[in-house]
Amino acid sequence: MSARIIDGKAIAEAVDQEVARDVQSLVQTYGAPPCLCVVLVGEDPASQVYVRNKGRRTQAAGMVSREIKLPASVSQAELEREVKALSVDPDVDGILVQLPLPAGLDSDAVIACIDPAKDVDGLTEVSAGRLVLGRPGLRPCTPTGCVILAKRTLGDLQGAHVVVVGRSILVGKPAGLLFLAEDCTVTLAHSRTRDLASVCRSADILVPAVGRPEMIKGDWIKSGAAVIDVGINRVENPIKGPGATRLVGDVAYDQAVEVAGAITPVPGGVGPMTIACLLQNTLQAACARRGWSVS
Ligand code: GUN
Repeated sequence: MSARIIDGKAIAEAVDQEVARDVQSLVQTYGAPPCLCVVLVGEDPASQVYVRNKGRRTQAAGMVSREIKLPASVSQAELEREVKALSVDPDVDGILVQLPLPAGLDSDAVIACIDPAKDVDGLTEVSAGRLVLGRPGLRPCTPTGCVILAKRTLGDLQGAHVVVVGRSILVGKPAGLLFLAEDCTVTLAHSRTRDLASVCRSADILVPAVGRPEMIKGDWIKSGAAVIDVGINRVENPIKGPGATRLVGDVAYDQAVEVAGAITPVPGGVGPMTIACLLQNTLQAACARRGWSVS
């Protein structure tokens, strides 16, 4: 039987609309929209596309989008000065420093310059600490998107066995904690996990986030499981000829779709949710900072 396809694009559009409605209400009550500022260093083409999309969707939700573009040659001190200035700028509610930074720049030191109240990426030590402690705070966007997709597809997640594959700071580790907060039983698997295929096969919800094209095969998936594929990998597309590429996930989709109960496609699954959650976080940050509430 073929799996139900989880339409991340449609769910992200629904979240965007919820944010837009709340922004409209804030503007009516308080007279000003929230503001998100994205910092882009260098000219990495993929990062440029991400930042452009973030700007478009921020504006479409009725919020103010600011972009600061700096050359790859910027010094560590100058970059930190820019981010510190945004942290004390009363008009800025959210700060996102697009990663990865060009070689030679220390991203940890830059992130440490973000006021945690404006940390819409959920990457500062304060945000990570709040997540671990189960206290309210700003959560990383991509793993939050995974939880929303799982909840909107399956309903209550209580007791489900979630296997996250990958332990990155941006996705794997926070995904584990976010599913734990939904009362799931969580396994954080990674490149050193013994018999990874068997561990994956024990998952009710499988969340691969390793960045290895089609690593997870159909027979690694339990029949009827939900698969939330975080991987976005660009590979050659021999069908379209030399130089052509296509995007694939960490899961061998054509095999997995025959086994899983529900699955996210790549593209169009987890990807669109990241920006939706960024907009949600910007709204949350603006309300908390300014003492606003949506009526
Ligand atoms: N680059 C790829 N994904 C992300 C993300 O979620 N946040 C930031 N800051 N950079 C990224």
